[in-house]
Amino acid sequence: METTTITRKPFLAALSGEVVRPAPIWLMRQAGRYLPEYRAVRARAPDFLRFCLTPKLATEVTLQPIRRFGFDAAILFSDILVPPYALGHGVRFETGEGPVLDRVTGAAQVEALDLARAREVWAPVMETVRRLRGALPPATALIGFAGAPFTVAAYMVEGGGSRDFAETRRMAFAEPALFGALVARLEEATIDYLSAQAEAGAEALMLFDSWAGVLSPGQFRRWVVAPTARIAAALRARFPTVGLIGFPRGAGPMLRAYAEAAGVQAVGIDTAMPASWAARELPAGMPGQGNIDPMALVAGGDALAEEVRSLMQAVAGRPWIVNLGHGIVPQTPPEHVAALVEMVRSAA
Ligand code: CP3
Repeated sequence: METTTITRKPFLAALSGEVVRPAPIWLMRQAGRYLPEYRAVRARAPDFLRFCLTPKLATEVTLQPIRRFGFDAAILFSDILVPPYALGHGVRFETGEGPVLDRVTGAAQVEALDLARAREVWAPVMETVRRLRGALPPATALIGFAGAPFTVAAYMVEGGGSRDFAETRRMAFAEPALFGALVARLEEATIDYLSAQAEAGAEALMLFDSWAGVLSPGQFRRWVVAPTARIAAALRARFPTVGLIGFPRGAGPMLRAYAEAAGVQAVGIDTAMPASWAARELPAGMPGQGNIDPMALVAGGDALAEEVRSLMQAVAGRPWIVNLGHGIVPQTPPEHVAALVEMVRSAA
C-alpha cells in the first residue's frame, strides 16, 4: 500500500485524494451532549440558536473534542437550521422535542426569505470560523458546513423532523414550481453561506443531506444531485482548493450517481452502506468518509475494534477519512471515543 509522509494536514491530504494511513479521523457531532464539558457550556446557553450565534461559546465547544481526542479535523459548531433562521424563517429548538419550524405551504413564505438579512444574522458564524483558524493546532483542519437544500427544505415544509417526510415528497411531485422555488432560494443562500465560511478560513466544506434517502431515484437526481452540482460548481469556481464533502444519507446505490454527477470531492458513507461497495463503486481516487455505526461506538470494546478492522480492510488502497455513519449519540462514553482514535491510529 502507498503511504504518505505528512507534509500537510492529514485530513486535507486525504480529502485531496491521497491514501493517508493511518487514516485521518473526526466524528460527526463530535461536539455535543456526550461530553460533560459541552453540557456545562450548554447549561449556560439555553437558547440553542443564540448559542450557535455566539462566537465565544461556539468556538469553545468546537475546540473541546479537539483538546480531548486530537481529531484530525474540527467541524464548526453551528446547525443546519441556522441559515433558514437567518433568512427570516421561524425556527425554534424546544428542549427534548428537537427543531420546530414554521411550515412552508405557499409562495409567500418562499418569497419572504431574505438573503441580505441572512448575511447579517449569520455574521457571527464567520467570526467563529476566524477565531477557530487562530486557535486550532497546526495539524488540525477546519471544516465548515451547511445543510443541503433538499434536507433544509424538508424541515421547512414539515415544520420539523418527520418519520417519512411525506408532505415534502408530495409537494415535490405535486407542486414542483413551489418546491423548486424553495430549493432554488436555499441553493443561492447555501452558496453564499459556504462562500463566506471559506472566505473566513474554512479549509473544507461539508453538505449534510440527511434525508436524501427518502427520495425515489428520479426525485433524488432532481432535488439532491442537481442542486448539489450547482452549489459545488459555484464554490469550485471561487475556492478551487477548498474540498467539498457531500453526505446524501440513505442514498443507497444512488450514491454512485451522486458521486459521479454532484461535483463533490468526497462523499460521506452512511452506516447501512457496505464500505467495500463504496471502495469499489466510487469514481477512481475519490475519497470516502465514514462509516462506523454510532452504536458500535456506544458498545466499545471488541465489537468496536472489529468494526474498525473490517472498515480499514474494506477500504485498503482508497483515500479514506474515518468517521461514523451518522452523528455520535448522547449516550456515547467519551472513553470509547478515545479508544476509537487509538484503534484507527494504530491500525496498519
Ligand atoms: O459537532 C458537530 O458535528 C458540529 C455541529 C452540528 C450540530 N448539528 C450541532 C447540534 C452539525 C454539523 C449539525 C448538523 C445537523 N443538525 C444535521 C445534519 C446531520 C444529521 O444529524 O443528520 C441535522 C439534521 C440537524 C438538525 C438538528 N439539530 C436536529 C434534528 C437537532 C435535535 C436533535 C438532537 O440531536 O438534539 C439538532 C440539535 C443539535 N445540533 C445539537 C447539536 C450538538 C443538540 C442540541 C443540544 O445541545 O441540546
